[in-house]
Amino acid sequence: MNPPVLVVGTYVQDLAFRCDHLPTQGESVLGTLAPAAGGKGFNQAVAAHRAGVPAVFVGAVGRDAFADNARAFGRAIGLQVQLVEKRGHATAAAAVLLDRTGQNQIVVAPGAGARLRPADLDAAAIRAARVVVCQHETGPAVNAHVFRLARRAGVTTVLNPAPMRADFTADALAQVDVLTPNETEFTALVRALIPRQQGFTAEKLTRLAPAALHALCRRLGVPVVIVTLGARGAFVSQTAGHTFIRAHRVRVTDTTGAGDAFNGGFAAGLVKFNGDVIAAARFGNAIAALSVTRPGAAPAMPTAREIARFLRREGRASPSS
Ligand code: RIB
Repeated sequence: MNPPVLVVGTYVQDLAFRCDHLPTQGESVLGTLAPAAGGKGFNQAVAAHRAGVPAVFVGAVGRDAFADNARAFGRAIGLQVQLVEKRGHATAAAAVLLDRTGQNQIVVAPGAGARLRPADLDAAAIRAARVVVCQHETGPAVNAHVFRLARRAGVTTVLNPAPMRADFTADALAQVDVLTPNETEFTALVRALIPRQQGFTAEKLTRLAPAALHALCRRLGVPVVIVTLGARGAFVSQTAGHTFIRAHRVRVTDTTGAGDAFNGGFAAGLVKFNGDVIAAARFGNAIAALSVTRPGAAPAMPTAREIARFLRREGRASPSS
C-alpha cells in the first residue's frame, strides 16, 4: 500500500558543530562534532512517519557513504526511502553550527539533492498519497510537477518554502493548498508578492495584530497559510478565519529541524485528523516542541507514543487522540 504522506525533498548529511558561541567574522572557535541525518525533506518524512502515519521520502543522492547513512536511517525506523542516484554528484551535506543555547546557523551544499528532476518521480505514488509535501531545497520545476499531479488527483499539497529562493515566483503558489513559511520566509514572500510591501520586515511582523497578519496571509492567495513563529508558536490563516497556536514551553537543546518537525507533524496530522487544519497544526506544534529538546534533526523526531504522553502531560490532547 502507498503511504498517505509523500515528501519530496533532500537528504542532507548534517555535520553539527557545537560550540559555546557562534564564531563572528574572522573568528575561529573550538567545538565538538556530531554527524547526523538531516535535510528538510528527509526530516519532515521522518517526523510524519515517527508520529505514526506511514510516509515515503523521495530524493536524490550521490553514490557515497552519506547516501548509505540515509538508507540505514530509513531502514532503522521503517521509513520508506526512495533515493535516486546521481552519478558524479555528492550527497548533500551541511555545516550546522550550534551555540550553547541551541540556536543554529546552517550552510547546505545541496549537491546531488538539487539534481532531482520531474522524470525521476513516480507519478502513481504521488497520485496515491493523501498529502504531498515539498520544500525549496529541491528546484521549482520538481515542486511544480509534484503539485500539478497531486492537485489533479485531489491530493492535499503542502509547500514549506524553506529556504527562501531567489528564483521564487508567484506562480509557484498556484497549486499549493497549504503554505508554511517561518518568519523570515513569510517576510520575503510578503516583500516579493504583495504590492507596496517592499518595506515589510520581520520586526514589523512581530508587531502585527492578528487581524492584520491574517489580511497579509490572505493576499498570498493560498487557501491555508501557517506562519511558524519559533518560540511563540504558529499562526494559522484560513479563508474562514485565523487562529494562534501557542508554543509549548520546553527546555531547548537544539533547534535544528524544528520547522521540519512542525511540517512533518502537520502533514501526519492532516491524515490523522481527516483534514482538520487546526488539529493538524496543534499536532505539528507538539512535535516541534519535543524535537527541540533533543540533539540533531532527523534523530530528534519523537515517536507517536512520546507525542501522546507529551500531549497528555500538557493537557491539550488533540480531538481524536
Ligand atoms: O531544517 C533543518 C535542516 O536544514 C538541517 O537538517 C539541514 O540539513 C538543512 O537542510
